[in-house]
Amino acid sequence: MTDALNTKKSEEIFGAAKNLMPGGVSSPVRAFKSVEGDPIVFDRVKGPYAWDVDGNRYIDYVGSWGPAICGHAHPEVISALQETLEKGTSFGAPCVLENKLAEMVIDAVPSVEMVRFVNSGTEACMAVLRLMRAFTGRDKVIKFEGCYHGHADMFLVKAGSGVATLGLPDSPGVPRSTTANTLTAPYNDLEAVKELFAENPDAISGVILEPVVGNAGFITPEPGFLEGLREVTQENGALLVFDEVMTGFRISYGGAQERFGVTPDLTTMGKVIGGGLPVGAYGGRKEIMSMVSPSGPMYQAGTLSGNPLAMTAGIKTLELLKQEGSYEKLEALTKKLVDGVITAAKESNIAIYGQSISAMFGFYLCEGPVRNFEEAKSADTNRFSKLHRLMLQKGIYLAPSAFEAGFTSLAHSEDDINSTIKAFQESFSEIA
Ligand SMILES: Cc1ncc(COP(=O)(O)O)c(C=O)c1O
Repeated sequence: MTDALNTKKSEEIFGAAKNLMPGGVSSPVRAFKSVEGDPIVFDRVKGPYAWDVDGNRYIDYVGSWGPAICGHAHPEVISALQETLEKGTSFGAPCVLENKLAEMVIDAVPSVEMVRFVNSGTEACMAVLRLMRAFTGRDKVIKFEGCYHGHADMFLVKAGSGVATLGLPDSPGVPRSTTANTLTAPYNDLEAVKELFAENPDAISGVILEPVVGNAGFITPEPGFLEGLREVTQENGALLVFDEVMTGFRISYGGAQERFGVTPDLTTMGKVIGGGLPVGAYGGRKEIMSMVSPSGPMYQAGTLSGNPLAMTAGIKTLELLKQEGSYEKLEALTKKLVDGVITAAKESNIAIYGQSISAMFGFYLCEGPVRNFEEAKSADTNRFSKLHRLMLQKGIYLAPSAFEAGFTSLAHSEDDINSTIKAFQESFSEIA
């Protein structure tokens, strides 16, 4: 058995935090509620590593939940930020950096002809739903069980991420009248979507989904699923929306839509396009985006939206990602990791189902395949919780939930991956 971590300072700080903030955190999954032990309080991050306040170093596979695809605190991002900082932190007025990032996003993401910047993925999804309704004149929306689209009222129905991790039903405080318009279907189940359209003629504004699910663990679309959604939405005069907050610029430079060759009408983004600063965005066909205020009547605004610091971090991050070979490196590294994890589990006779695409991965401690949230729930969460603690003790920081995807970065080296696989081998043999 590995020595326990020295986490004295983390415990003190988290102990104090619990009296200051609900659950001691600013966002629920960070509280480690579904794994063993208390959270680690971070002191600093660099490249693929995070250091806690007690001086322990971890190889980080959370990457601030997605943004850190070039590695934490990349020197070029930091230096670009320092330069921008000298000019001020927020203008509340147009700035040329917005044009630059908008051009980069429009060039990269097939569905995006025009984009609006906001400050988080939640905000992007909330706004896109309003736009779906404004454009179609219909109120209902279809989402999938286990997909997470931020914490706005109408999406807190069978949601993934913290809602799934903490086993919450729907959140109190969400009016029934709000979620009455949210219809749900199992992921990868095209027939269920067709039935919903048949049962609700001319009432559904569109379908929103994570084209690759990262908030119910890691679930990939089965062949034909995304294509089928494209068809069924078109046939019914409804919009198809890819929530690429997690997958955007991660599954490929142009997101999951580029990788799978299916172009939605609208796309939401966040995480990577902010390079570690708070950014979200939604975009799509000009005809639809022109409905957004002040071009059109659909109101949406933001004091800090498009602020120069966030735009700078996003631009620099995309420039780094655009360099030759980035995605090949991410793909190979991540596949090596997941193959290693699967082999390690099998050596200890532990049931596992794991997959990766580009810089995103996940594994469930159960026999596969896992095609939807219902199947994901058969994973052994108690065993995952033990595994998570053991991995921490060996210097590996995994998402503190059996239902979250993992993220690699350009900063992770072969050595990091090898040490991670070794830690998995040891941990699996300890929990076998
Ligand atoms: C697919 C997806 N959509 C929306 C969100 C919400 O983004 P944010 O946490 O920036 O509000 C997330 C966050 O994890 C996400 O993964």
